[in-house]
Amino acid sequence: MARLSDKVAIITGAASGMGLAGAQLFAQEGATVVLTDVSEEALQREAAAIRDRGGRATAIVLDVTSPDSWAAVVDQVVTEHGRVDVLVNNAGIHIAKGILEAELDDWNKVMAVNTTGVWLGMKSVIPHMQRQGAGSIVNVSSIAAIVGGVADAGGAAYSASKGAVRSLTKHAAQWFGGDGIRVNSIHPGSVFTGLAAAAGMTMETMAEQLGGEVPLPPHVGEPNDIGYGMLYLASDEAKYVTGEELVIDGGWTTH
Ligand SMILES: NC(=O)c1ccc[n+]([C@@H]2O[C@H](COP(=O)([O-])OP(=O)(O)OC[C@H]3O[C@@H](n4cnc5c(N)ncnc54)[C@H](O)[C@@H]3O)[C@@H](O)[C@H]2O)c1
Repeated sequence: MARLSDKVAIITGAASGMGLAGAQLFAQEGATVVLTDVSEEALQREAAAIRDRGGRATAIVLDVTSPDSWAAVVDQVVTEHGRVDVLVNNAGIHIAKGILEAELDDWNKVMAVNTTGVWLGMKSVIPHMQRQGAGSIVNVSSIAAIVGGVADAGGAAYSASKGAVRSLTKHAAQWFGGDGIRVNSIHPGSVFTGLAAAAGMTMETMAEQLGGEVPLPPHVGEPNDIGYGMLYLASDEAKYVTGEELVIDGGWTTH
């Protein structure tokens, strides 16, 4: 039996990077996947590609900072599929400005997507999961929530936003464990995604920069490395796991 048979999963930021890797793996493992993102063209293209390979996938535009957007998406999913078993709060942005360089607008933008978006996502799906008596929420944080230095790539608001996701995850795990709802966080180290490619980086140049920090070759992760973590936490294999921090960083935080 596939690892996510009969499960309905919503993934945010699923048009690229780790969110897309998770969506592809979830579909392979039998889930009905609802890919959401603000980037509509890529979203439609990637959902269609999953369907072409025989997976069950739909695409819905969702801005995670908007309560109305969340309400519309969750309503649509529950109307069409009758339930929400899994939510992966993956959408995130980064602004490489430290405490002294950042303006209030930079701070607010990062917090809105990375932290408020995660809270709104949980607020929107938890009542449905309570009615079902089960659910799994996976919040994508970062090792920037655990250590400083280059781990946050110079983003003060980023670091704070991901720290908030780490503690919000534990809060939710405590308060909703009794409803059968599991809430865990994933803390990726450096992973080669579209973001890095757009900045002109390759796996090799990233690995070269991080070789001293990350003991495990190839010294930089791939989106699937995180996708497999999402898959485990979403599945019933993790039925006794909640409030946990899954660090996937090639050993970076062992320093
Ligand atoms: N790449 C890394 O090295 C790394 C390391 C640690 C943590 N992370 C975290 O992993 C998650 C995924 O990052 P990625 O590297 O795959 O990045 P990515 O840029 O490839 O994907 C992020 C997606 O989020 C979407 N998005 C941005 N704002 C949104 C909004 N308001 N509403 C909905 N979607 C929105 C983007 O369109 C994009 O498709 C993020 O939360 C990021 O902070 C990444």
